[in-house]
Amino acid sequence: MFKINDNFCRLPESYLFSEVARRINAFREAHPEADVIRMGIGDVTLPLCPAAIEAMHKAVDDEGNPATFHGYGPEQGYPFLRDAIALHDYKERGIDIDASEIFVSDGAKSDTGNFGDILSADATVAVTDPVYPVYVDTNVMAGRAGENTSGGWSRIVYLPVCAENDFEPALPTDGTVPDLIYLCYPNNPTGTTLTRSQLKKWVDFALAHGSLILFDSAYETFIREEDVPHSIYEIEGARRCAVEFRSFSKTAGFTGVRCGYTVVPKDLKGVDSEGKEVSLNHLWNRRQCTKFNGASYISQRGAAAIFTPEGRRQVRQAVDYYLENARVLREGLLEAGLQVFGGVNAPYVWIKAPAGMSSWEFFDMLLEKCNVAGTPGSGFGPAGEGYFRLTAFNTLENTIEAVRRIKEARF
Ligand code: MLT
Repeated sequence: MFKINDNFCRLPESYLFSEVARRINAFREAHPEADVIRMGIGDVTLPLCPAAIEAMHKAVDDEGNPATFHGYGPEQGYPFLRDAIALHDYKERGIDIDASEIFVSDGAKSDTGNFGDILSADATVAVTDPVYPVYVDTNVMAGRAGENTSGGWSRIVYLPVCAENDFEPALPTDGTVPDLIYLCYPNNPTGTTLTRSQLKKWVDFALAHGSLILFDSAYETFIREEDVPHSIYEIEGARRCAVEFRSFSKTAGFTGVRCGYTVVPKDLKGVDSEGKEVSLNHLWNRRQCTKFNGASYISQRGAAAIFTPEGRRQVRQAVDYYLENARVLREGLLEAGLQVFGGVNAPYVWIKAPAGMSSWEFFDMLLEKCNVAGTPGSGFGPAGEGYFRLTAFNTLENTIEAVRRIKEARF
């Protein structure tokens, strides 16, 4: 009989957001009259902006005409999009990133998960805790995680972020040097950020110890405060130690359209088992050409449109709308007497479950008493236990209503 990849059997029974969705659906079946407000998975609710819609309509027309039809595109993405990204997301911010260092994809989830393909199966991994579960689960699949214990995976280094350390992960001080360090800022799930000097500590650590930082900045568009870096490449030396992942999902509502990109600077080198330096840009290109045929022409045209002046204005408006929801949530929940974090430069609000409740207990109670669905913090890692995440991606009306119900419930 053929053998399967055992690592998949080590994974938790289901992916966090599938489990949350399953429980919400079970509740709805049992209580069909309940008007459940969903603030669990970070899926957007506003429709795509008009600039993207118009560009995608035109792209569909291009596909219907032999003179403008596009079949397989470049695996790395079309130059019209790579150039727009390099110019607007980097050069205009004074960051030196070339279009040839940008790889367009179907989103940051796939790229953060797939990037491990080009890294050693023996690499040691560090994650902030709580953490976006994709980083951990994909390393379990690759056999890098070790054994699942009550405190997490035995070969994964957990860097707790919690109220006690003001949500700043501490550098390892016990001599541990992780080969791969996953950082996501603005952070999912806590909605907190790092300042430039806080992020610089990690870049300096990676440079000093030869680690690679996998920097997920999917929520970059939500940054409104001055001292919060938009890109890790704002920090000197990051071109030699960091890959950056970006997404149009939360920026421009592309959760259903699918488009994102990964930056792999040409200065970034790893070593092979004989100690010879190898370019990660070259390896990632090789990986993508073999396993990926590029994001669709239509999505890429839509993504390029968000860099036009009207596209940028429309995106800003939508992101401001979600940030207003985050403010309503944050302030309302504080008024309700809860301890609340994040939600200033991010669409996520991180709440301490009241009265010593566990994350899942609070999930059940909020669903039953208020018909509000969120995500239990423990699903994001051991240090998430006792916390809870709500997203600002619902409508303003529903956000106000959720806050009203939570205040009324008097936790
Ligand atoms: C989340 O809710 O954490 C995100 O929506 C998940 C994702 O982006 O894949």
